[in-house]
Amino acid sequence: MRAASLFRERFGGEPDGVWLAPGRANLMGEHTDYNDGFVLPFALGQGVTAAAGIAAGSGSPGGRRLTLCSRQEPDTVVEVPLDGLAPGQVTGWAAYPAGVAWALEAAGYPVPDACVAIDSDLPVGAGLSSSAALECATELALTALAGCDVPRADLVTIARRAENEFVGVPTGVMDQSASLRCQAGHALLLDCRSLELAQVPFDPGAAGAALLLVNTRARHSLSDGEYGRRRAECEEAARRLGVPSLRSITDPAEVERLDDPVLRRRARHVVADDQRVLEVVALLRSLPGSSGSPGAAAGSSAAAAGSAGAAGAYGEIGRLLSQAHASLRDDFEVSWPEADVAVEAALAAGAAGARMIGGGFGGSVLALAPSASLDAVRDAITSAFAERAWTAPEFLSATPADAARRLV
Ligand code: GLA
Repeated sequence: MRAASLFRERFGGEPDGVWLAPGRANLMGEHTDYNDGFVLPFALGQGVTAAAGIAAGSGSPGGRRLTLCSRQEPDTVVEVPLDGLAPGQVTGWAAYPAGVAWALEAAGYPVPDACVAIDSDLPVGAGLSSSAALECATELALTALAGCDVPRADLVTIARRAENEFVGVPTGVMDQSASLRCQAGHALLLDCRSLELAQVPFDPGAAGAALLLVNTRARHSLSDGEYGRRRAECEEAARRLGVPSLRSITDPAEVERLDDPVLRRRARHVVADDQRVLEVVALLRSLPGSSGSPGAAAGSSAAAAGSAGAAGAYGEIGRLLSQAHASLRDDFEVSWPEADVAVEAALAAGAAGARMIGGGFGGSVLALAPSASLDAVRDAITSAFAERAWTAPEFLSATPADAARRLV
């Protein structure tokens, strides 16, 4: 509860509550969200914590303010005047919580004069959605302080608006959805066109498999223009194909009609990744214990009998992960050298599959391996980085966790 102790140190007194919003890893569907496609993220155990309280002297002259501090930015306390707040007025990390306050008010939810202390165990720039976690933790805190009960679907829209319009990064809807709507033990299937979602049971451990998250320590930033460029290329590809978005293309052959080789490659990735999301979902749903599968609600002997099938399904999911990496590297061109090396080393050491996750140009790799090979995979990646004199990678556990919630 380090956010609460930071609150006491900086603001004096006890916070009114502490809220946690997780980061995410994405099992499948990259750069598909802003193309109205499918994504399949899961929430991480790591996240951003916000300890918050109504400011002492709230209501006094001088207007409402949001006062922010963060354990990761120890030298600053940022005061954001709330009256007349507009995009462009706040920069740096504080733009995310300030943007949430702005978007909440724009949606008609009042934001009180509040103090918020932030802490995080998510590495920043690792492509694990620390920005969305910061937005969502602040959002839960501010709406609770105001006594507003906002539906989760609306919280997603408001947090995304904060990022798109206040911070100015043209991201899709995946990260905020993952942080606010995931369930432990599940991946979240989200249709980014209809915003319909489904919880898909996801428990690699039950099949003798394990997930390994590798922060390649090459910092990723979405604000450098490449992300926006990819997005514009996808929109142009859809326009030339005469469809509202690339989601409408289900036959991969259609993409080959594009004359421009760059647009053709971009569209090829998006169409194939949408398809891969649905394939992974079908594989997960075929597993024993998944609702609708033959083993559902059966006893442990039935589950054991199904475990050979489960190993096969995870092998297949691994194959799809590696295929997605090749597509992100060659067709979408958003991978980076550390990710390619981590993926190759993981596969050579026995992983079933691996791929870069998130927006790209730095960040993390997700590997899926038989539990027995996990140490070998970790060692192989560490050695491959050491051979190149790269900063050692950081390994994080990746257990599908619950969405944002109040802790205290
Ligand atoms: C970033 C964005 C998401 C999504 C991914 C790529 O994480 O925030 O909206 O586009 O990149 O899948």
